[in-house]
Amino acid sequence: MLVEIPEGLVRALVDAEHVAVLTGAGMSAESGIPTFRDPQTGLWSRYRPEELATPEALRRNPDLVWSWYAWRREKVRQARPHAGHRALVRLEGLVPRFTLITQNVDGLHQRAGSREVIELHGNILRTRCADCGRQVQDWPPAPEGRAPRCPHCGGVLRPDVVFFGEPLPEGALQRAWQAAASCDVMLVVGTSAVVEPAASLPRLAYMRGAVVAEINPQRTPLSDLVHYRLPAPAGEALPALVAALEAARKPGSVGR
Ligand code: OAD
Repeated sequence: MLVEIPEGLVRALVDAEHVAVLTGAGMSAESGIPTFRDPQTGLWSRYRPEELATPEALRRNPDLVWSWYAWRREKVRQARPHAGHRALVRLEGLVPRFTLITQNVDGLHQRAGSREVIELHGNILRTRCADCGRQVQDWPPAPEGRAPRCPHCGGVLRPDVVFFGEPLPEGALQRAWQAAASCDVMLVVGTSAVVEPAASLPRLAYMRGAVVAEINPQRTPLSDLVHYRLPAPAGEALPALVAALEAARKPGSVGR
């Protein structure tokens, strides 16, 4: 697919002091990690979040919650970053200031080489104790299908991700608000923009005068607000956008 890159967006990126990017599950779709809300393929079309991704679910059935996240963790381990992730690494080096905010828990941005990533919803590759809160790397083996126990306090172990109904990591959210309030351009990539507070970040950026662009094959509640829409997959749109920026920058200009 040939992605049409709006000239005004490229100009805004050339002039930007601070570029922020917000990514969601669609960013990882081309790496083979299912999204949540796409009809047919999204996780929430096959599973009920309240049975798997809430504090109540963990209390009721920790073994089920552990097994489901272990299955997802395996998918994440097998996944590889794609050209879109790598384009964001290049973008980081092309602009004076860059903030990458993600709702994804798969760590693919970091594996691609992005340096500073604000993880709003945690990371599935980390494990912590539901009771004492400590992050743990190793734990005593548990019987097949059972949630393992904390080596420090014996509590149930859980993925270090944000469940529905839980607060987001304070520092991460704070930094995300700050970036949204101060960026000149925000790219919103592969998110349905229905889960708060992440969905409000592009709205704040817009209200503060940033140029906001959405990269998503489908329309979202943000689509009518944004200045530019690139209705294409992240793995195609981002490399095309960054290539256009590279071509448009003045010779000799440097990022940070
Ligand atoms: P969703 O599954 O809600 O939305 C994924 C979006 O990606 C949709 O709008 C798709 O159209 C779009 N999409 C699909 N393939 C794409 C591609 N190749 N390139 C670009 N876009 C594509 O995922 P999120 O918005 O990330 O929270 O969901 C937000 C949160 O809800 C998640 O972080 C998770 C979930 O429940 C927690 O687990 C706390």
